[in-house]
Amino acid sequence: MAPAAGAPAHEPRAGGMARWLVSPLAKPLLFLAALSPLAGLVWGAVADTLGANPAEALIRSTGDWTLRFLCLTLAITPLRQATGWHSLLRLRRMLGLFTFFYGVLHFLCFAWLDMGFDVTAIVRDIGKRPFILVGSAALLTMLPLAATSFNRAIRALGARRWQALHRAVYATALLALLHFFWMRSGKNDFAEVAVYAAVLGALLGWRLWRWRSRRLVSAT
Ligand code: HEM
Repeated sequence: MAPAAGAPAHEPRAGGMARWLVSPLAKPLLFLAALSPLAGLVWGAVADTLGANPAEALIRSTGDWTLRFLCLTLAITPLRQATGWHSLLRLRRMLGLFTFFYGVLHFLCFAWLDMGFDVTAIVRDIGKRPFILVGSAALLTMLPLAATSFNRAIRALGARRWQALHRAVYATALLALLHFFWMRSGKNDFAEVAVYAAVLGALLGWRLWRWRSRRLVSAT
């Protein structure tokens, strides 16, 4: 079977999923799906269904979604390699940018609802609470990645340098996990942290394993 229109030439026999991934609907549908958590939160705030502490619910929920989108973004490469659905790559940039989007929203919810946009209080809190410092570092590592996620930046940097820069996403993942761990350690509640640690460990472990096997092959 010929590859579906728009699919990379090396796309293996296009099954249902691979065909769907290259369809013009894939990106708009993912965009809408990625906005649905925000829609749910806005709806919850307007309808007053966010519980006894809506500010806390908004801060925590946007933090959770940042971490979930980070996992989804990091899952693209292993999934592509395991399934041969190379067109998954078309969706990675959008997922990465949504990770950054929810990270910024999370920060803005904190800065607004906890700190009343008082810059001095925000800076003081970053210095005072280590988990906030680590969260801020995680967000900062995403800045250059978001800023260079456009075709012109990729062309200007060159593929190699772009790839090297985008390895910073591993630092983002570790800092995000540490931020979550530190926050929950105050409550001695590690169940969810352990789930995210297992998912991120598997996604990063897969890369490490592939990298080692490639080195072994090239050394022989
Ligand atoms: C990549 C960046 C970040 C990620 C992935 C992230 C993720 C998270 C997660 C998963 C939670 C816990 C949610 C829950 O308990 O269900 C959380 C809580 C929180 N984060 Fe972040 N965060 C990030 C950056 C930041 C930044 C930049 C700040 C502020 C400067 C921040 C401040 C907070 C606060 C105040 C809480 C809630 C603490 C509480 O309710 O006791 N985070 N974050």
